[in-house]
Amino acid sequence: MDSQRCRRVVLVSCPFQGHINPMLQLGTILSSKGFSITIVHTQLNSPKPSKHPEFDFQPIPEGLSKQEIACGNLVDIILALNERCRIPFQKRLIQMMLQQESHDEITCIIYDDLMYFSEEVANRLNIPSIVLRTSSVASLLSRLAILQLKDEGYIPFPDAMSQDQVPDFRTLRFKDLPICEFGTPKNFYQLLAHVCDIKTSSAVIWNTMDCLEESLLAEQQLKQFPIPIFTIGPMHKFAPACSSSLLKEDSSCIEWLDKQDPNSVLYISLGSMASTDEKELAEMAWGLANSKQPFLWVIRPGSTLGSEWIESLPEGFMETVRERGCIVKWAPQRDVLAHPSVGGFWTHCGWNSTLETISEGVPMICRPCFADQMVNARFVSHVWRIGLQLENQLERNEIERAVRRLMVDEEGEEMRKRAEDLKEKVEACFKKGGSSYNSLSKLVEFMSSQ
Ligand code: UDX
Repeated sequence: MDSQRCRRVVLVSCPFQGHINPMLQLGTILSSKGFSITIVHTQLNSPKPSKHPEFDFQPIPEGLSKQEIACGNLVDIILALNERCRIPFQKRLIQMMLQQESHDEITCIIYDDLMYFSEEVANRLNIPSIVLRTSSVASLLSRLAILQLKDEGYIPFPDAMSQDQVPDFRTLRFKDLPICEFGTPKNFYQLLAHVCDIKTSSAVIWNTMDCLEESLLAEQQLKQFPIPIFTIGPMHKFAPACSSSLLKEDSSCIEWLDKQDPNSVLYISLGSMASTDEKELAEMAWGLANSKQPFLWVIRPGSTLGSEWIESLPEGFMETVRERGCIVKWAPQRDVLAHPSVGGFWTHCGWNSTLETISEGVPMICRPCFADQMVNARFVSHVWRIGLQLENQLERNEIERAVRRLMVDEEGEEMRKRAEDLKEKVEACFKKGGSSYNSLSKLVEFMSSQ
């Protein structure tokens, strides 16, 4: 352990909430195993160093203008990050190497798969690199499928095909493929190719579990990357105290949950990026009100187009739901999901939310918005069968029906039972002797031998 304490690992995080969380969780895990941790991060969405006194934080300028960030074109933003962070990162690493003592050498660089410029720099400086995959194995396979379909001339596919199964990935329909609507197709495919390719990296760390995705991990497409894969999810369970929220969590909702009946509350959150328009917000509001179920709803400031916060909720809604509803700007989500009053989660199916929900045995209403969320929603509803998917346009009667199916009907009860069974399997993965537990030990051994 003492010899490891001196080994420094540089983690390169990607500046979005759903990516910062798993990277800082990984830092916490590796720190507990004796590694010294440096977090390299952009100035955009900088994590809060005061929350993690055990880490050394190294900011690098990403050079994005306010307009570039505000336009919300994620593909172009990520491409620009990779172009503009490369040189500052290389300079910062060289500085660190010149200053490092022999007992504090950089052992390796672990980078978020969206920050692929890190691999190039690591390779240039002869430092081993490891890629962290923060989304599911299914989502990587779906990206590989897109690249293949594009080579075979299927894309753009006609609308008529959207319900058809993807030939090499039959769990998914064409409409579930994470084809991005941001920016130009050329930029999207360029990004996809970079993210899928691990290049010279020596291993993959995956925030998933064998009990969820073992058969996918054996897929032929992954064999083209003949390097070790360490599945150590769900990482938040190995680092329960790690908190990396960019927004302030409103804990008053826990007191409100304390007053509700067991399994009675529907929790609603669309994560850190997805947004709705006013009409969708109104349909959601009336669907929830008409379902007569208690709900805790996270409405992020700015997440309703044209609104600062909740001023565009329809007239009469607050008076109708009264104490049956609680609305906050940002919740302590993991505590919410673990609360005995929470009986269901209407989620956008970001991978962190999906893992956090599965870990607490809570069934879901899936309303994916973009990217890997579509794939996760399909797996939740059709493979693990612990949720139902809201497709089509948001409409109040359909929402009311979905809420009652999940929270009241026999069908929801069956999903809850399956969710509880899956929770037990997940616990077995991260407890002593489980697949994630063992994989983490192997990762530590692997990194110590680098
Ligand atoms: C983004 C992409 O949208 C998603 O598809 C990809 O899988 C990860 O990056 P995001 O929208 O941030 O994800 O969702 P998610 O992955 O679920 O991460 C959100 C995180 O914020 C979760 O860890 C969740 O616990 C946390 N959260 C969310 C809160 O702490 N409080 C809240 O009120 C809402």
